[in-house]
Amino acid sequence: MYLGLDLGTSGIKALLVKENNAIIGSAEISFKVSHPQKGWSEQNPEDWEFALKKAVKILKSKYSFEFSLLRGIGISGQMHGATLLDHKGKILRPCILWNDTRAHLEAKQLDTITKVRKISGNIVFPGFTAPKLIWLANNEPEIFSKIAKVLLPKDYLNFWLTGEYTSDMSDGSGTSWLDTHKRVWSSDLLNCSGMRLNQMPKLFESSEPIGNLRDSLAEEWGLSKNVIVVSGAGDNAAAACGIGVINEGDAFISLGTSGVILAAKENFAPKANHALHTFCHAIHNRWYQMGVILSATDCLNWLANILEKKVEDITNSLGKKIKKPNSTHFLPYLSGERTPHNDSKIRASFVNLDVSSNQNDLTQSVLEGVSFALRDNLEALKIAGTNISTATAIGGGSNSSYWLELIATVLKIDLDIPEKSDFGAAFGAARLAIIGVTGAKPEEIIKNPRISKKISPKKELIKLYDEAYYKYKSIYPALSLIK
Ligand code: XUL
Repeated sequence: MYLGLDLGTSGIKALLVKENNAIIGSAEISFKVSHPQKGWSEQNPEDWEFALKKAVKILKSKYSFEFSLLRGIGISGQMHGATLLDHKGKILRPCILWNDTRAHLEAKQLDTITKVRKISGNIVFPGFTAPKLIWLANNEPEIFSKIAKVLLPKDYLNFWLTGEYTSDMSDGSGTSWLDTHKRVWSSDLLNCSGMRLNQMPKLFESSEPIGNLRDSLAEEWGLSKNVIVVSGAGDNAAAACGIGVINEGDAFISLGTSGVILAAKENFAPKANHALHTFCHAIHNRWYQMGVILSATDCLNWLANILEKKVEDITNSLGKKIKKPNSTHFLPYLSGERTPHNDSKIRASFVNLDVSSNQNDLTQSVLEGVSFALRDNLEALKIAGTNISTATAIGGGSNSSYWLELIATVLKIDLDIPEKSDFGAAFGAARLAIIGVTGAKPEEIIKNPRISKKISPKKELIKLYDEAYYKYKSIYPALSLIK
């Protein structure tokens, strides 16, 4: 029996999985994000511990026999956050999260140092870890001087579970401190942000064991002393393991709060100037390229909220058959944008509203705007030499068949829809634990899910959506003048 954990931004998920990948059950506990100032986003790592304990308690009471057979634990986590510990392992301040933009100037500065993009393979996005540490040195020097270790969020929980300071290559890729090609911390990069190698945790590949569950926890949870904890992965790499996206040509589109197109790569092929992410995969000697839009279902939630309706109501009201492109455009930059603009200041906009524009026009243009933003990501991937013809669709937004057909048409690719089951990052993390404990080969455990249907582009609308996409693209330069 294996435990897959996913430390998200809004809560933690714990999934109990058998060695044959069958799911026994899950528990989810939520926690809050605090925003002490505009653009700040923090969480207390003790809230993660508390939530994990609660989730385990639920699993243990519901599935006591299965839980008692636990052999391994794997964890996936929200990336980029800075959890700071002193020399005794005590937390120095709340964790500064991935969606915190206070360090945007520090990020810009770091990004101008040529070797940073060259070694890390990525733009220094404002949410990445390194600029946060420069901000701390400038604004909270007393705390900065006490930092003995910097841990990413999931690595803090691994420390809590095992007492070991560790990280993995996939999560390390989002710090701007990793040599993403060589899969080692780079002293050069650490120097650029005033950090030292001894402040970094030891690096492991994602399925490598990092240690055993602490004796006190094993006792409290009624488990043997031999439960192995593996290093785990950043959330997107873990999600890719959950749906079998590990070989060149495999890809997924995730429609969550943010939107992601991720393509697995067998070689390291960065293209930082198109704001693509090139990160180590959770599989040894593999990488992935990824485009991220910061607001996907977030845009629909925002619209439904101000219309005081439910998301399903406003999307159902469009009907089942996709329409011709709307003449109103929506640019989905509610929280700024990563790929392809790397612009934390840009904001969203409706363009070309008419006196007759109604709720359906707004909903349709929001769905189209997010789809066009995903097309921008697909084009960036193409420039980087990654051509996608089919992708697996996951995430909450993939429940809308209107939206899926629209995305297939705008992106001109097929979308595979998995049969209903659990394909989240927690499942991928459990698979990493199975590999680490049993010594199985990744491809023996990380298989593709069964596909319930394939959604293809609506041929007769492709040309019209192409034209609409080029109009959409022409709006950003004007919009960026007013930020
Ligand atoms: C990846 C990223 C998100 C966060 C939060 O670069 O920022 O996936 O990990 O989910």
